[in-house]
Amino acid sequence: MTARRISVPPTAGLALRCADLRPWGDKRLDRALAAWLEVDEVLLECSGTSALVLALRTLQQWAPDRCEVVVPAYTCPLVALAVAQCGLQLRLCDLSPDCLDMDGDALDALLSHRTLALVPTHLGGRVADVARLLPRAQACGAYVIEDAAQALGARVHGRSVGLQGDIALFSLAVGKGLSTYEGG
Ligand SMILES: Cc1ncc(COP(=O)(O)O)c(C=O)c1O
Repeated sequence: MTARRISVPPTAGLALRCADLRPWGDKRLDRALAAWLEVDEVLLECSGTSALVLALRTLQQWAPDRCEVVVPAYTCPLVALAVAQCGLQLRLCDLSPDCLDMDGDALDALLSHRTLALVPTHLGGRVADVARLLPRAQACGAYVIEDAAQALGARVHGRSVGLQGDIALFSLAVGKGLSTYEGG
């Protein structure tokens, strides 16, 4: 008889325990997060969406002649909202048939001199293969924003997600693994 593999869907957040309310580490959340993520500093925003708007506005200043943002066709609608808020053009990339990553061929068809950024997204407890996208982004001169809104705490080869692209965002909204109710 073959063993059945049981797959557990990702949780919609971790239950709060009494121990979580005890003081720990640095009182400054930004410094504690920076140390945990192993980066020099992080910028705290009121939401992940706001962090994405900030990232896009920054990139718009760096590359004002580029106006398109490529995102997975299945993602959080707030991502589309952020792109629209910046007056940028959303380009939806089909997913690979076997995972939630953007499909390589579909991505190649979308990337051009108009592409400002592509947004690999760590969705539903699964880590996107960002390394696979980096040469494609580099070849067309686009930036990579890692959408790790759902993935604070996830690690790749011992390092946090979010460190492979040019910019990363995390969400601290309710329902995320680590929450301040709203935040990013
Ligand atoms: C993939 C993804 N990107 C961005 C966001 C936006 O984050 P926030 O709700 O903190 O604005 C979310 C929120 O659920 C998300 O799931």
